[in-house]
Amino acid sequence: MRISDNAKLAERLYKSAWSIRGNAWSPYSKFQVGAALFLPGHDAIVAGVNVENASFGATICAERGAVLSAIAQYGKSEIGALLVATDAARPAVPCAMCLQVLAEFCRADMPVFLANGGGIVESLVFSDLLPRPFTVF
Ligand code: THU
Repeated sequence: MRISDNAKLAERLYKSAWSIRGNAWSPYSKFQVGAALFLPGHDAIVAGVNVENASFGATICAERGAVLSAIAQYGKSEIGALLVATDAARPAVPCAMCLQVLAEFCRADMPVFLANGGGIVESLVFSDLLPRPFTVF
């Protein structure tokens, strides 16, 4: 599968994130999140969901779940696009901790799509959300 065209890519990411979102473990917040990443080097989509914990601070967001899964499956890979899906009317953006984790693997101009049950409602680039990630090296 080669996902060359951007609109087609966004649609594939949406289907992946929206369908996996139902697997979220969110008994505390009741807020289900699905995230899907595109790995251009592997022409692959990897998705994740939020997994909450009774010890609230141990909760892992959908975006970080997707990044961890991508690295586990493919090793270090560039992330070429991200889509986040919730059922919120005003679509959720990745939290600051997830943005910092994503920054390790993506470029400033990476497309970020925000979606809800109606489809993709906003299209941004990574640097709109985190213009200056922390880096050491
Ligand atoms: N959450 C995500 O999965 N991604 C974000 O970027 C923000 C928040 C999750 C964490 C928690 O399970 C629920 O949404 C409410 O904060």
